[in-house]
Amino acid sequence: MLFVLASAFISVALLFRFPSRSASQGNICGMKPKKRQVSLCLLLLLCLGGTTTTEAIEPISTTIAVGMAAALTGFLATYQNIFYTFHECCRTEWIAFNKTGLRADLDSKLFGQHIASRIIFKALNGFLNNENPKKPLVLSLHGWTGTGKNFVSKMIAENIYREGMDSKFVHVFTSTLHFPHLSHNITYKAQLQQWIKGNVSNCERSLFIFDEMDKMQPGLIDSIKPYLDYYDKLDGVSYRKSIFIFLSNAGGESITETALDFWKAGRGREEIELKDVETALSLSVFNNNKSGFFHTSLIDKNLVDFFVPFLPLEYQHVVQCVMAGMRDRDMDPDADVADQVARDLVYFPKSERVFSVKGCKTIDSKLDYYT
Ligand SMILES: Nc1ncnc2c1ncn2[C@@H]1O[C@H](COP(=O)(O)OP(=O)(O)OP(=O)(O)O)[C@@H](O)[C@H]1O
Ligand SMILES: [Mg+2]
Repeated sequence: MLFVLASAFISVALLFRFPSRSASQGNICGMKPKKRQVSLCLLLLLCLGGTTTTEAIEPISTTIAVGMAAALTGFLATYQNIFYTFHECCRTEWIAFNKTGLRADLDSKLFGQHIASRIIFKALNGFLNNENPKKPLVLSLHGWTGTGKNFVSKMIAENIYREGMDSKFVHVFTSTLHFPHLSHNITYKAQLQQWIKGNVSNCERSLFIFDEMDKMQPGLIDSIKPYLDYYDKLDGVSYRKSIFIFLSNAGGESITETALDFWKAGRGREEIELKDVETALSLSVFNNNKSGFFHTSLIDKNLVDFFVPFLPLEYQHVVQCVMAGMRDRDMDPDADVADQVARDLVYFPKSERVFSVKGCKTIDSKLDYYT
């Protein structure tokens, strides 16, 4: 009997071989026991069971045990996917683009960013529906503080990864936290390359978010240029299905200038188009010697697919943010409170009070005070 149970155990262990790694995906989740492996296990099980039967003192119970062990092995072989249900894996159960979810989030939760909303949806939809992209998707989000750059990155993660920002396939680098010292630039470059290579080897559908690009040491980001380029594979790793998002305030002034010009000319904000800001934006980012993009080959070599401008937010958007904040807290949205919070913020230019200096950034903490 013991012998039979031991054989069952060996069979199951052979089937799953924890914690080995699959060659194709590099992580445990990519493992699929082949049919031949399953048959081999069953054969081994039956042979061992058969041997035991001849020596058995209780042939009936031994036969039952063999049957049960075989059934268990078969069950595990068929229902191996149960494992993937509980353990985040680089598989479609965990990573799948929710197109309608992203559309709905952008339309209902992101305020005052018609250009960003349109570009981001089109870029992601096109990229994630392409089975064979030529290069990874590279988005660079620019704009004034508190206009929604991190907020949108979170939306993107949540509509691709079931675990959202907590997914182990979503990686956030913050310049001031991860790359604080100028003198360590050489080490950072090597680390950055290793991180990206290691993570993409583990899951080709990885998302990398580089926050505070304007505070990154110039030159550092160039170390990842090869990964963003048009290569089939580099050292056996394909980066073509990954997504890179850069966030920065760089270029915020040029976007604001355009928005202010439209406002002064009495033109609607919605009339601002990408072409009105794009060239000035990429130039000002490229030429800003304090930014991580300063003279970077990523821009020079056109590896950034989309420069996404975030417009400065106006009073009406701040009101929308406050109302959304109240809904998030399960409070009844109160227009008077929203108006009061929005009126108490600082706006620029000082005389006209058009754009919120901090965008919607401090709204959440303000709500504690006003409610
Ligand atoms: N356009 C927006 N629509 C809705 N909510 C917004 C918008 N912009 C900002 N918010 C709210 O303000 C919070 C802070 O915004 P977020 O962190 O995205 O700003 P940011 O653009 O990354 O600013 P910074 O450049 O200072 O990092 C968000 O969590 C969100 O609640
Ligand atoms: Mg931010």
